[in-house]
Amino acid sequence: MADEPLVLGIETSCDETGIGIVRGHTLLANTIASSMEEHARFGGVVPEVASRAHLEAMTPTIEAALAGAGVKFSDIDAIAVTAGPGLAGALLVGVAAAKAYSLGLGVPLYGVNHLAAHVAVDQLEHGPLPRPCIALLVSGGHSSLLLVPDVAEEVISLGSTVDDAAGEAFDKVARVLGLPFPGGPYIDKAAVSGNGTAIAFPRGKIDDGTFDFSFSGLKTAVARWVEAREASGESIHVPDVAASFQEAVVDVLTRKALQACKRYDVHDLLIGGGVAANSRLRALAQERCDKAGVRLRVPRPGLCTDNGAMVATLGSDLVAAGVAPSSLEIPADSSLPITTVHV
Ligand code: KG4
Ligand code: ZN
Repeated sequence: MADEPLVLGIETSCDETGIGIVRGHTLLANTIASSMEEHARFGGVVPEVASRAHLEAMTPTIEAALAGAGVKFSDIDAIAVTAGPGLAGALLVGVAAAKAYSLGLGVPLYGVNHLAAHVAVDQLEHGPLPRPCIALLVSGGHSSLLLVPDVAEEVISLGSTVDDAAGEAFDKVARVLGLPFPGGPYIDKAAVSGNGTAIAFPRGKIDDGTFDFSFSGLKTAVARWVEAREASGESIHVPDVAASFQEAVVDVLTRKALQACKRYDVHDLLIGGGVAANSRLRALAQERCDKAGVRLRVPRPGLCTDNGAMVATLGSDLVAAGVAPSSLEIPADSSLPITTVHV
């Protein structure tokens, strides 16, 4: 609707310079410049390289988003930006840019939490979030289970990873298997022709009564398994290893997510973050949700991975809720807790 605020969102917490433009919950532009190619040869994101890439990509990406949305700077009603968590230097570029645009355009600034933004974005595709819902956020940087009474006001952490994030485990196991970085999509693809029950890899913290995750033991188990086969000169069937590893990850993720739904008597589960693109995670989550009478919401892959539209969406919710804008003094906070939805 034309009377809803036009919000520009800026995301720079990792390697993606994401600029999103929304009007209310209508997506007008979601433009992304990624520096992933510059990191691939290091097998992981190099923070300083990411920060410089954000600096170079910021202005052209904003201009491309405005052109794509068919709007002008003067049409913008508010600026939202990821204030944390994420890489400190990378966040700093986005926060500084957002302050400059807010000041220059004379519009309010909203510093938002990256994780809450991953939850909010689903509304662009599936409409307003049920209150409450349970959210499982799985990416290269985070694995969290959240109880979300109201994404603009209150997000409660039920648990998170105690070591590696789920996507990080995918990336590390891919490296062990000689697959490119980032490894998640390659494991997903290799696993299609593999047998997920071929190898019984450990399921960390499963049924321990908490909503925390642990993936480093699993990652080590896969590495040891591969090393042992290599040492004895046996050939390794990559699809079976990929499928068995993937099965261990998604089994734990979906099991804990549904345990949380049951514990809190919540009937809506949302899955977000880059790992939500995983085909087996989506299939198993759907299967288990159907069995438990839980409705499953997973945004399309382009909205699951880091992007600016998610930040703009949460900004739009904050404007709609009448939340006071952020001060121009807000810091970039690399360890911003999920309980702080906006700063
Ligand atoms: O959300 P995201 O784009 O960035 C952050 O880390 O915040 O997530 C990237 C992660 C990487 O670890 C990547 O390997 C993983 O998401 N990923 C996948 C798949 N696609 C991306 N993991 C498993 N299966 C996939 N299909
Ligand atoms: Zn993310």
